[in-house]
Amino acid sequence: MATTKAGEKSLGAIELLIQDHKKVQKMFKDFEKLGEGDEEEKLALVTQCCTELKIHSQIEEEIFYPAAREAINADDILDEAEVEHASVADLIDQIQAMEPSDDLYDAKFTVIGEFTNHHIKEEQDEMFPKVKKAKIDLAALGQELMQRKLELQEEMGVLEEDRDDEAARRKSASRSKSQPAAYAKSKE
Ligand SMILES: [Fe+2]
Ligand SMILES: [Fe+2]
Repeated sequence: MATTKAGEKSLGAIELLIQDHKKVQKMFKDFEKLGEGDEEEKLALVTQCCTELKIHSQIEEEIFYPAAREAINADDILDEAEVEHASVADLIDQIQAMEPSDDLYDAKFTVIGEFTNHHIKEEQDEMFPKVKKAKIDLAALGQELMQRKLELQEEMGVLEEDRDDEAARRKSASRSKSQPAAYAKSKE
């Protein structure tokens, strides 16, 4: 955990990404527990998981991977990660064009889970340890990732109750508490 100037705890880049990984991995497990008749639940879970994956891939590609590419000498690992993101993005497009009652729906989501788990393992076992050793400000990078994540969540219409990050909770709490004060100040 890093600490900001205001003394608030904030997630470092790697902690934030691992938190995302755990969240989607839980969704893949939850999907396995659903049965034939649970089509509504399947659609809701798949939709939420695909949005999480899209946002996560995008913040990695825009912010984390370029920083890692500069800091560690491992273009092969980063190239492979980007190809894996593209494969999962293709499968996401395919499943989002399907209905839960379609024959290959469950299989499609299971394969997305398998690819994602493989990709997460490579990031956590190979990429992240190298980044941790490199000269890189993981606290600042974490803030940047979180800020972009919040922007994308808003853009993609992620509901506040589905945003389980600490920063998201802080943001919604500060929005309801401190806005009147800020407004009052601006009128002085
Ligand atoms: Fe990741
Ligand atoms: Fe990734």
